[in-house]
Amino acid sequence: MSGLPRSSVTKTFGILTAGGDCPGLNAAIRGVCRAATDRYGMKIIGIADGFRGLIDGYTRELKSGDFSGILTLGGTILGASREKPFKKDPVQSNSEVEQDKVSIIKEKYKSLGLDCLVILGGNGTHTTGYRLTWEGLNIIGLPKTIDNDIVGTDRTFGFDSALAIGTEAIDRLHTTAQSHSRVMVIELMGNKAGHLALHAGIAGGGDVILIPEIPYDIKAIGRHLEERTRSGKSFSIVVVAEGAQSIEEHKMDKKERKQFRALTANPSIAYRVAREIEAETGMETKATVLGYVQRGGIPSASDRILATSLGTAAAELLAKGRYGRMVSLSGNEIMSVDLSIPADKVKPVTLDHYVIETALSVGTCLGID
Ligand code: F6P
Repeated sequence: MSGLPRSSVTKTFGILTAGGDCPGLNAAIRGVCRAATDRYGMKIIGIADGFRGLIDGYTRELKSGDFSGILTLGGTILGASREKPFKKDPVQSNSEVEQDKVSIIKEKYKSLGLDCLVILGGNGTHTTGYRLTWEGLNIIGLPKTIDNDIVGTDRTFGFDSALAIGTEAIDRLHTTAQSHSRVMVIELMGNKAGHLALHAGIAGGGDVILIPEIPYDIKAIGRHLEERTRSGKSFSIVVVAEGAQSIEEHKMDKKERKQFRALTANPSIAYRVAREIEAETGMETKATVLGYVQRGGIPSASDRILATSLGTAAAELLAKGRYGRMVSLSGNEIMSVDLSIPADKVKPVTLDHYVIETALSVGTCLGID
């Protein structure tokens, strides 16, 4: 094969990481940049701290040394932020601040000489990316998040690493729960979708798993835990997703739910569920919130492979000039979907997913009878 770069439609592109970080971002950055420079000789502009860096002008050219040795690193060498230039639906909203930010992004895109902007992010980032295509920008997205909740891809990178961390935490709680004959509630991330809690709960043998998609009945949970006690089990593990809700709460509108949560004054759902279990059963119950540990540290082997594959696939889209797309995993295929597919959506756990049946088949309570 000739050492000369192959021809490419994209000559220069910008790259940024937006939203919450996760393991595998650096592997993906390396994948995109390696293939884009080594194969196609493209010029790369690194943008710091997501869309904020583009607005504030924190950009610099990335050279091969910048993305060498980063495959195994957690976090993102580019930095991330939750800056959202479009706050609401742009059809309904035209606040001056919003218009300003979008205009600045368009100007910067032009002045940096970008042919495309590569965005690594979750649902919010892809929604922003899709709206930027309406503004005439060329965008290519890569799906990252520990939540695994992006429509258009079977898996996001970051999920597998967080799953291993969540599972290990549940394993560790098992031994202390057993020693003290306690109920242990562990909260994993996942505000709108419960993929992480459900999978870690199954992998760690959780006795109860609560996810946002299945509003829980504390009475059913109490009955399940008491039944375990009657059958001679001295302890129980309850895995709860950050966004889990009771049946009563599920019926409330946003405002009522906010007031209700302020009233119950628990720092997060794990503490509330622990109190509710104690009140319902009288069993000693402790809460653990795993928090940002789930997003830190080195990516798993599987995440490194997925991130690298999606990264190199993004470089191929850049070379072909196939913009307005998100690279994705479908079965065993790396492919891409139109950016409208992930935009403005969250992929929930569907109740017909095989893992729901799996959990029920091993006697796990999913919060209802
Ligand atoms: O989207 C990833 C995620 O970790 C969610 O699971 C969690 O709800 C959220 O980010 C936390 O966001 P932040 O970093 O803004 O606190």
